[in-house]
Amino acid sequence: MPGPPSRGVLVTGASRGIGRAVARAFAERGDRVAVHYAARAADAEETRAELPGEGHVVIGGDLGDPVAAQRIADTAEEALGGVDVLVNNAAVATSEDNAHRVADVSYAEWQQVWRQMVDVNLLGSANVSYCVARHLIDRGAPGRIVHIGSRGAFRGEPDHPAYGASKAALHALGQSLAVALAPHGIAVTSVAPGFTATERVAGRLTGESGDALREQSPFGRVGTPQEVAAAVVYLASAEATWASGTVLDLNGASHLRM
Ligand SMILES: NC(=O)c1ccc[n+]([C@@H]2O[C@H](COP(=O)([O-])OP(=O)(O)OC[C@H]3O[C@@H](n4cnc5c(N)ncnc54)[C@H](OP(=O)(O)O)[C@@H]3O)[C@@H](O)[C@H]2O)c1
Repeated sequence: MPGPPSRGVLVTGASRGIGRAVARAFAERGDRVAVHYAARAADAEETRAELPGEGHVVIGGDLGDPVAAQRIADTAEEALGGVDVLVNNAAVATSEDNAHRVADVSYAEWQQVWRQMVDVNLLGSANVSYCVARHLIDRGAPGRIVHIGSRGAFRGEPDHPAYGASKAALHALGQSLAVALAPHGIAVTSVAPGFTATERVAGRLTGESGDALREQSPFGRVGTPQEVAAAVVYLASAEATWASGTVLDLNGASHLRM
């Protein structure tokens, strides 16, 4: 029996981590994937090389730049023969380097981190969403947009308030677009992962800090990129149209405990 029809899928920030797992999950169901990256070109190429199937491409570009965001969407549209699914995964994630506790940083540092996180995490996602949605509307095609949000939007990010705010805004953007784009057959959703074991955070999972992270969930562990990817593939499916507007928790009930 033939499998599901192949779709064009743009995954931003797919050089590694959650984005790479999402790219792989779509390719495994027969979709053609545009693997986007910002700085890690070799890793993005490795992601693409490991994808099953054919027709996958690699596209670079800084999502903090609105011109680049449009170019990324347009290039993916052309290379894939249409983007049917957009996964807004790229983000300036939290690290000790970009911590901006009110009590610790200067006003100039505070502004710089806010600018970068809002530019990439929120405006970058909003701009690519606009460009992909306009292509879908022009083609008269149904589509899916899935945002990778964060548990931090609900629990707060005291060391990285700009990150938490950008992710809360991303969830809200998804809800607004879900209403606005439904008449065009485009469903928009978000997922809110908790701590997820990606390369970026592997170092934090050892020793006592790792135990503390695992204890955040009553399951006694952290999430995996594959668990996030499986949910994204579901939310991008035809069966999930009625979930449009949702923010799906993927954090092992960890945001429900203090
Ligand atoms: N891991 C977690 O615990 C966790 C929890 C909740 C939510 N999330 C969210 O899940 C997503 C993936 O996280 P991850 O852990 O897999 O992090 P990651 O490995 O750091 O991946 C982030 C991706 O975003 C891209 N990116 C960063 N700055 C960019 C820019 N200016 N323009 C375009 N792309 C840019 C990176 O590209 P390059 O590599 O090419 O620079 C990378 O591919 C993020 O949205 C993150 O906020 C993660």
